[in-house]
Amino acid sequence: MFASRGFGSDNHSGVPDAVWQALQCANSGFAPAYGTDQLTQRCDEMWRKLFGPETKAYFVFNGTAANVLSLAALLRSHHSVLVSSMSHLHVDECGAPERVWGGKLLAIEALDGKLRVDDLRPHLIRKGDQHHSQVKAVSITQPTEVGTLYSRAELRELAEFCQSEGLWLHMDGARLVVAAHRWGTENFRELTEGVDVLSFGGTKNALVFGEAVLFLSPTSRQAANEFAFVRKQLMQLPSKTRFIAAQFLALLDDKDLLGQPLSRPNWTTWAGQACSMADRLREGLEKINAVRITQKTQANSVFAVFPRAWIKALRDHTFFYVWDESSFECRLMCSWSTQSQHIDEFLDTVRRLAETNNEG
Ligand SMILES: Cc1ncc(COP(=O)(O)O)c(C=O)c1O
Repeated sequence: MFASRGFGSDNHSGVPDAVWQALQCANSGFAPAYGTDQLTQRCDEMWRKLFGPETKAYFVFNGTAANVLSLAALLRSHHSVLVSSMSHLHVDECGAPERVWGGKLLAIEALDGKLRVDDLRPHLIRKGDQHHSQVKAVSITQPTEVGTLYSRAELRELAEFCQSEGLWLHMDGARLVVAAHRWGTENFRELTEGVDVLSFGGTKNALVFGEAVLFLSPTSRQAANEFAFVRKQLMQLPSKTRFIAAQFLALLDDKDLLGQPLSRPNWTTWAGQACSMADRLREGLEKINAVRITQKTQANSVFAVFPRAWIKALRDHTFFYVWDESSFECRLMCSWSTQSQHIDEFLDTVRRLAETNNEG
């Protein structure tokens, strides 16, 4: 029914059997709704184990809502947030932050998707001036929208800056497990050190639906307590939360849904596969002269410019997005279900085009 391969997005893949089985397992009998069922409570325990005992978690339906509601919970409409010019909040949420939260996004040019303290500092001006929107938060994406990754030192520097300037730090973790894999850690507290509020992705990380907003810091406690009301008003309160909880448990927990220990949590395998396939794709493309790689491959995507005349044939072979319509920079994304064969056959096609056009 659907294509057997694709580099369009990790959103384009299906889900692993373990996620599907978790949904099936949750599909028995009657359970109370709106976060009061046993699986959601078990998931709450898991969040606290992974992120610390202060963690307050809320499910929402999608990643845009996780981001926008995080801002709405922390900020008022006379506040502004520093974001990268590549951020999903800025370029892919159709103005939802501005409409729903009502404040201002200040987009800072970041060609590799990463914010740096030296670029943020000049925006901390006119503090207390009633004529000027007040900068109150920084939002970063880890890994970024262009497949790059903040290092431990970069994250620490940003967190310290936010703390010293009294700014909230929000993290869009749509693909956080990929970042964990790339950092070589299973310690989510380390990965989010200094972050106040986290959007934890579900769908890009192999779930069918559901995302989570996690309040991590003690200072965000009041916003955390009020989040339930914000979420309901903005129509993102799911009722049958057992189904979202079951999937997050299948992704992250070290036990299966029946309580049997797993040798490793499933995300480690799934994120590992997505990353090693992206590395294989990059290594292959690098060897072809006419292809120019444009970003580091530090997550599960490869950014590359192909000769324009090749793009149709390549996309007919395996679909991917043209990321920048002016330069024809393309994004090729791998997921838990990408196989070596998908990469190798795609690379053969690129090589054939290169040979035919004498550009290899
Ligand atoms: C970095 C990032 N954040 C957030 C989202 C939100 O996704 P959605 O609202 O489509 O669930 C996406 C989706 O592509 C994303 O790539």
